[in-house]
Amino acid sequence: MCGIVGYLGKNESKNILLDGLSELEYRGYDSAGIAVLQDKNFSIYKAVGKLQNLKDKTKDFTSEGFSVGIGHTRWATHGKPTELNAHPHLGENSYVVHNGIIENYQELKKELQDAGVAFLSQTDTEVIVHLFEHNLKTASSAFDAFEKTISTLEGAYATLLVTKGEEETIFFAKQGSPMILGTGKNGDKYFGSSDAPLIGFASEAIYLSDGDYGVVNNEGIKLYNDKKEKSLSFSKLSENRLSAQKDGFRFFMEKEIYEQSDVMSDTLMGRVQDEGINFDEIDPSLFEGINEIKLCACGTSYHSALTASYLFERYAKVRTSVEVASEFRYKEPLLLKDTLFIVISQSGETADTLETLKMAKKAGLKTLTICNVDNSSMVRLSNASILTRAGIEKGVASTKAFATQVAVLWMLSLYTAKLRNSISQEEITKQLHTLREIPKVLKVDDEQHERIKRLSKRYLHGHGFFFIGRDVFFPLALEGALKLKEISYLHAEGYPSGEMKHGPIALADPELFTIALMPTELLYEKTKSNVEELSARDSTICAISSKKFDKSDDDIFITPSDHYMLEFFEMMVALQILSLEISVRLGNDVDMPRNLAKSVTVE
Ligand code: AGP
Repeated sequence: MCGIVGYLGKNESKNILLDGLSELEYRGYDSAGIAVLQDKNFSIYKAVGKLQNLKDKTKDFTSEGFSVGIGHTRWATHGKPTELNAHPHLGENSYVVHNGIIENYQELKKELQDAGVAFLSQTDTEVIVHLFEHNLKTASSAFDAFEKTISTLEGAYATLLVTKGEEETIFFAKQGSPMILGTGKNGDKYFGSSDAPLIGFASEAIYLSDGDYGVVNNEGIKLYNDKKEKSLSFSKLSENRLSAQKDGFRFFMEKEIYEQSDVMSDTLMGRVQDEGINFDEIDPSLFEGINEIKLCACGTSYHSALTASYLFERYAKVRTSVEVASEFRYKEPLLLKDTLFIVISQSGETADTLETLKMAKKAGLKTLTICNVDNSSMVRLSNASILTRAGIEKGVASTKAFATQVAVLWMLSLYTAKLRNSISQEEITKQLHTLREIPKVLKVDDEQHERIKRLSKRYLHGHGFFFIGRDVFFPLALEGALKLKEISYLHAEGYPSGEMKHGPIALADPELFTIALMPTELLYEKTKSNVEELSARDSTICAISSKKFDKSDDDIFITPSDHYMLEFFEMMVALQILSLEISVRLGNDVDMPRNLAKSVTVE
């Protein structure tokens, strides 16, 4: 989803802006642009497609000395991905960048057009800059005009505006979409949609809240909310950029698959203890008076939620339901106060999930966020939060975020089980031991990777894939299918194995590939009969199991284990590698697949 950067200071702003935009590439985009204001002159560059195109266009441009600059990667919502629709958008003397959706832009545009303003783009964003310039005609200062403009906007926005006449200033506002404001050693100021562009430049940052707006210039930062000046509250930023690099892997996704074992150790650290699960960040009173758990999320995070629903009911014996956030928002749901509302999100910024959290809070429910990004909107909004500790995930196709979410939720199910006295200490002790084994099964074995790579050449065509499994292997099947769809653009669906004969099996033929998840420690025989039914109808079968299945065409063998959750994690790695290698063979952009965004901050 769109990314924003901003810079005010004496360093070469072009490099800082382009560098910052590269850090935001993972959010997904289809065009990019920068505007630099120096010595009362704007330099503006835009390009469709990859950031490299913008870099090529700006190669002869430099901006030594003091300047202010704003930059943007655009993920098209209103209007096609063209240069005209790319940000920054121009008024007469000002430029603006924006992430989010201005819901009342049509009314505003009409009013401005009636007043004689000409629009160049099809975007909602362009109204911001024209409205600002319109207000400037009657306002006592540029700041007043900006404040008035912001108060007229409805919807979601993180926006930066620069204007001639205030050449040493950046105006900013945040509502709904994320924005961070950092300061560097020389008093330089930086903006970013996440902290990634700021790391290495700014030493501390303010994570702006909804309704925040203000102005930065050489004299400092003025921050307001609801027309009242706010004090500035800074958090220290990490200085380590290395974690965000590829470390010799071909793709971020590949690096992130290989990292899973290490990050999982962090996820478990201090939480898996000798007697039970410990979460320093939550208080057991969170579960007092709770008779139901509702999990809400999107995409991959939804698949973790589904996995968790089996574990919560099985171990904690608590009624658990799972909701797709975009559906939940508008279904007029029954929100009862004895429900603990849990949102799951890698980014903590997904618009639909965030909105459901607001709904639950409004209805007076206790809320908990499982998230990978500290200080994200969801973390800040909920009553309590548990961080997954996966580190920055850059590949659009989520891998380590999913693994760590499932681990946190599994731990949480045991934590809740202990509070509710629903399982024996003996069983808890056994599972604590199993949890400690996860990093081991997540270690990618080079030979296994090579085998899957060779196998992948047989799965580049066909009319579709069925990923099937039972119990927690059903959400894993959904996740396997989503991974494949996202980066290979092949049609894939996840199904509960037992559901095939209720319709989907009609598609079975040799060109229909079945990826069968066949754990030996959970419902093996049941799953086996379902796979046999598909094999009897000539579907091509790739079985993932520790046991040889005699009706399979291909096998991916995993290590024999004594617990189904260890089989779950090892199969997850195999599925991730299979998708990765299919995508590579098809020549696709693994890290930034077409049409997708890392952080979906619009509904
Ligand atoms: C995962 O591979 C996807 N790119 C996507 O489904 C993602 O999980 C979804 O958009 C939710 O994001 P979140 O976890 O940041 O809320």
